[in-house]
Amino acid sequence: MHIAIISATGMIGKPVTHELRKAGFSIRIIARDVDAARRLFPDIEIAAGDLRTTASLVGPLQGIDTAYLNLSIRQTEKPADFHTEEQGIVNLIEAAKQAGVRRIAYLSSIVMRYQDMDGFSWWVFAIKQKAVRLLKASGIPYTIFYPSCFMESLNTTQRVGRFVLQIDLLCVRAI
Ligand SMILES: NC(=O)c1ccc[n+]([C@@H]2O[C@H](COP(=O)([O-])OP(=O)(O)OC[C@H]3O[C@@H](n4cnc5c(N)ncnc54)[C@H](OP(=O)(O)O)[C@@H]3O)[C@@H](O)[C@H]2O)c1
Repeated sequence: MHIAIISATGMIGKPVTHELRKAGFSIRIIARDVDAARRLFPDIEIAAGDLRTTASLVGPLQGIDTAYLNLSIRQTEKPADFHTEEQGIVNLIEAAKQAGVRRIAYLSSIVMRYQDMDGFSWWVFAIKQKAVRLLKASGIPYTIFYPSCFMESLNTTQRVGRFVLQIDLLCVRAI
């Protein structure tokens, strides 16, 4: 299977790319910063592509069986900005159709399912829910992952000194 990874330079994308390669898959990284991607993965094929435009993705997706996405909404993003998990996914779906990609795999999050529960609402979760709806309506077979927490986060966003922030699903419900 030939997999295109869009987001191999990201926190979760890096280890996922290494593991997919170790597992023996043929990989092409599609990155907006080709040099940065090459520094991380000197032995993997890398193509330039940006989720902001469909046209930049069609060529790099040629011959690909599965496009794999580890996208995020960064803390600096505002609701009216471009979001990779919104317009970026629309562009990716269109490019995937043009290139004949057979499956899209997308890393989502279990926590976003608590949107609208007990009055809780966050625009970030609304976008993540929309991403799932877009993929399901795309007509392209899909695989969507709903993880809770990755170990990679423990030393970054979840660690403050000797404390680790752990929000489990029961706590989110109670809040
Ligand atoms: N951390 C956790 O414990 C956890 C738990 C559950 C779910 N998740 C999910 O994991 C997902 C991934 O998170 P992450 O922290 O790995 O994200 P991240 O580090 O912010 O990585 C985002 C990736 O998207 C790429 N990207 C951004 N804009 C792009 C564009 N216009 N075109 C093409 N690529 C673009 C980035 O490339 P550049 O290097 O060029 O910026 C980067 O590789 C999140 O959606 C989150 O919901 C995480």
